[in-house]
Amino acid sequence: MIRPILKMGDPRLLRKAEPVTHFAIPALDELIADMFDTMHAAQGAGLAAPQIGINLRLVIFGFGTNSRYPDAPAVPETVLINPQLTPLSEEIEDGWEGCLSVPGLRGMVPRWKMLHYEGLDQFGKRISREVDGFHARVVQHEYDHLEGILYPMRITDMTQFGYVDVLFPELDADNDE
Ligand code: NI
Repeated sequence: MIRPILKMGDPRLLRKAEPVTHFAIPALDELIADMFDTMHAAQGAGLAAPQIGINLRLVIFGFGTNSRYPDAPAVPETVLINPQLTPLSEEIEDGWEGCLSVPGLRGMVPRWKMLHYEGLDQFGKRISREVDGFHARVVQHEYDHLEGILYPMRITDMTQFGYVDVLFPELDADNDE
């Protein structure tokens, strides 16, 4: 079931989310299925539970190809619960980001280039990966939602923040995030 996505300005996007404590239960499966329905319907690259008003440390992300980020390499479809992130180098990389909670806009955001992340999947099984580039960016963006941080708060050069249709007129105009 597609759920409404909260938009920037809603105080529920600014909360620190709570750890998930119960796994392999129907309520969790249903929530995750709804999150995938919602993310796919919006053609998003990722979605965090707080974006649909559920204050849990649960994110999903991944795609083969994505019309909102046509140049991005594939990222495996992942359910990540109670994640922990550790940068693997000091290196920072700038890249464009959007957010389903900030429709119509893109901003240039600095992120760790290389990252180890771990957490649990929906069955409580451990996930541990070393990633870089767009995959690392997506994980950091989604993790931020669990801390009540939206990407505009991370923009260091506000001249690199604007409307998708102005910044990237070549992107599909129907794709209004
Ligand atoms: Ni987002």
